Amino acid sequence: MTSAATNSAPAPAVSPAALRELIESRRAIRRFSSEPVPEAVIRDCLELAVLAPNSCNLQPWSFQVIRDPQLLGQLHGVCMQQNAAKAPLIIAVLARPDTWRQACADVIHYWPEAEVPQRIRHFYSKTAPFQYNQGPFGLLGFCKRQLLRLAALRKPLMRGPNSHGQMRLWAVKSTALAAENLMLGFQSHGYASCPMEGFDEVRLRKVLKIPRHALPIMLLAVGRATDKGVYNPRLRFPLEQQVTWL
Ligand SMILES: Cc1cc2nc3c(=O)[nH]c(=O)nc-3n(C[C@H](O)[C@H](O)[C@H](O)COP(=O)(O)O)c2cc1C
Repeated sequence: MTSAATNSAPAPAVSPAALRELIESRRAIRRFSSEPVPEAVIRDCLELAVLAPNSCNLQPWSFQVIRDPQLLGQLHGVCMQQNAAKAPLIIAVLARPDTWRQACADVIHYWPEAEVPQRIRHFYSKTAPFQYNQGPFGLLGFCKRQLLRLAALRKPLMRGPNSHGQMRLWAVKSTALAAENLMLGFQSHGYASCPMEGFDEVRLRKVLKIPRHALPIMLLAVGRATDKGVYNPRLRFPLEQQVTWL
């Protein structure tokens, strides 16, 4: 069993300098060679993606791996012919506000010990389904919001997600973390990437047959970087402008 599957927190295996080097070396790359990305690399990176922290471990994401040249050609159009979309591999990263019910059952089904602890069984069969169910037209969510408003007068309570909109945000948060893992995974294998939100969502949904409630949060172009793949020098605002120390 790997440390990832055990209860104990593994000691960090990567030095701060090595992690910094990996993160600093990732840039948004817009020009790729046509060299295909090996399936073993894609699998490894997807495995890293799904190790991302995520809300209640309900893993509200899914991925579509696109390597078919015809489909890639269509995506280039959907991405308004932008250069980054000419990669040999595109991964559609989807947030899934719609999979929580199955995920609750899956946590119990895939529990990595012989016995599912009672507190886990209770949480995923009672608490979580109540927390995430918004009911038809979001009506249950609306009622929960009002009840919470009253109950929270007495003690601090978690206020959401209690609407379909909040459920979308809920899923996007965890999925964005998975997307970053995915990019760093490819970077560690020597492949460059570019996250893209510059696409026509309506056409994308048609081309990839994206499930109705799934949210394509980004398309990740992946491949070997070629010359002039970085368009601009690295720019970040001063930390002091963005950080408050309390
Ligand atoms: C959600 C998201 C959407 C993006 N969409 C595009 C895009 O459509 N096309 C593109 O060329 N770059 C896109 N980028 C890349 C950003 O422009 C890039 O990350 C940013 O300029 C910082 O540069 P760096 O990643 O090299 O540090 C996107 C990045 C993110 C996180």
